[in-house]
Amino acid sequence: MNKRLKIRDFEVLKGFLSSDAQHGLLDDLRAVARVAPMRSPVTRWGKPMSVKMTSAGRLGWISDRRGYRYEAEHPDGMAWPPIPETILALWREVTELDREPDCCLINYYGEDARMGLHQDKDEGDFDWPVVSVSLGDEGLFRIGGTERGGSTESVWLQSGDVVVMGGAARLAYHGVDRIRFGSSRLLPDGGRINITLRVVDL
Ligand code: SIN
Ligand code: FE2
Repeated sequence: MNKRLKIRDFEVLKGFLSSDAQHGLLDDLRAVARVAPMRSPVTRWGKPMSVKMTSAGRLGWISDRRGYRYEAEHPDGMAWPPIPETILALWREVTELDREPDCCLINYYGEDARMGLHQDKDEGDFDWPVVSVSLGDEGLFRIGGTERGGSTESVWLQSGDVVVMGGAARLAYHGVDRIRFGSSRLLPDGGRINITLRVVDL
């Protein structure tokens, strides 16, 4: 790890993963996406999201015209693949928890993808932290407070950075304004992958 930043209550572990670890994680995520293909979900209002996503774990996060929720199956009907052991090891190292995450949500950001400010609040218990890992191109991560419309600050997340959203950060607004397409060579065709590990507890 290069540096530990605390931005509001978000813990940002810069350079947490070595280059080898990033490549290993990427191979594992590709294997997940071969079983459970990435999809571009729509919002409740039918608007396509700019990110593509899939999940691993007991539950996967999905969005469609019925809303946001966790489901035990991919929209195509298969069970989500198990969370790769490398990712569970990372979770244990960062959180020091015995409880394993139920969901590893995998988001892919292409050139113009972004994610609006939101809270992660579809889980049943907000005492567990959410751990986020960034791979590939840099993304401008915006951090707010627990109220919509409050002040925010931003940090560029780079490949190998880990963010822990626990405690007061657990229900804080966050989002990704844009990525710097082509800024990393980890993904041969460019783009950014972010995974978030969540205890869903439903
Ligand atoms: C998310 O909030 O689910 C994703 C955050 C990120 O892409 O860094
Ligand atoms: Fe989120």
